[in-house]
Amino acid sequence: MKCTICNQKAALHLEHHNLALCSDHFPEWMCKQTERTIQKYSMFRRDEKLLLAVSGGKDSLSLWDILWKLGYHADGIYLDLGIDQGTRYSCTSGEMAQAFAAQRGLNLTVLDIRAKYGESIPEMGARTKRGHQKPCSQCGLVKRYLLNKAALDGGYDAILTAHNLDDEAAFLFSNLTHWSMQYLGRQHPLLPATTGFARKAKPFCLLYERETTAYAYLNNIAYVYSECPYATGSKQLRNKTYLNRLEDEQIGFKYQFYTGYLRALEAGAFPAGQETPEVLEQYRCTNCGQPTLSDGLCTFCRLVKKN
Ligand code: FES
Ligand code: ZN
Ligand code: ZN
Repeated sequence: MKCTICNQKAALHLEHHNLALCSDHFPEWMCKQTERTIQKYSMFRRDEKLLLAVSGGKDSLSLWDILWKLGYHADGIYLDLGIDQGTRYSCTSGEMAQAFAAQRGLNLTVLDIRAKYGESIPEMGARTKRGHQKPCSQCGLVKRYLLNKAALDGGYDAILTAHNLDDEAAFLFSNLTHWSMQYLGRQHPLLPATTGFARKAKPFCLLYERETTAYAYLNNIAYVYSECPYATGSKQLRNKTYLNRLEDEQIGFKYQFYTGYLRALEAGAFPAGQETPEVLEQYRCTNCGQPTLSDGLCTFCRLVKKN
């Protein structure tokens, strides 16, 4: 197959766009698509200070590379979750993130959760009923809290994450199967800043995982290949498998599924959820001052204070 633009050998066939691109034109296309998504949802500007959550994986490192090439000012933050038992997952991903930042002269903050809060994510999970075997929900809570705190403390205009279309379609599938109205009301690629919460944006939300993987590969980006060991057998991975089957049968399925949902969301089909500014004005965590939904400690402080 030939590149649609230059007729050289194509490196990737983007069937849902009816496009084949060579190893020169595909990375260019990725930069253009990312810029288009940033503009489409008015995510952020070049004069703003951005904080990117960097995991050491293909998505976050590819996004950092593209933002850098597009002239955006994004610092990185790597949360060392302490998931190392038998896998060195956190160690390896941290090394990848640091090597990437050093090669390009980019700023990366490393936050070691065990050093700062006395316990790794698996240790925090082990103290809870549900996190005993898989600490994923505690991990999600800690990541959301610490990213937000780092953005607010560091005076950043927005937090960026590198969730891709496959991630978003799988979240959406899960939210729809449970009719989680609270989440369905907020799965937008841009969440504006609100009381105590920084703006959040997902510039890769319309790009397939195979595209971000190909970008990392064609740009010689060294990234951690393995998934978090706790992801094995997770609902999110199962949902991805189901959606891959649908995509195989119907090219562009995930894109239609997610963009159709975004149109419905923008048309007001799903309410905004309970975390409205009015509700968040009511209570502040008695330890950290973060807005919460009830009196006392916020969920993060309850977790790390071992209550
Ligand atoms: Fe958090 Fe796996 S438990 S990344
Ligand atoms: Zn070409
Ligand atoms: Zn708190």
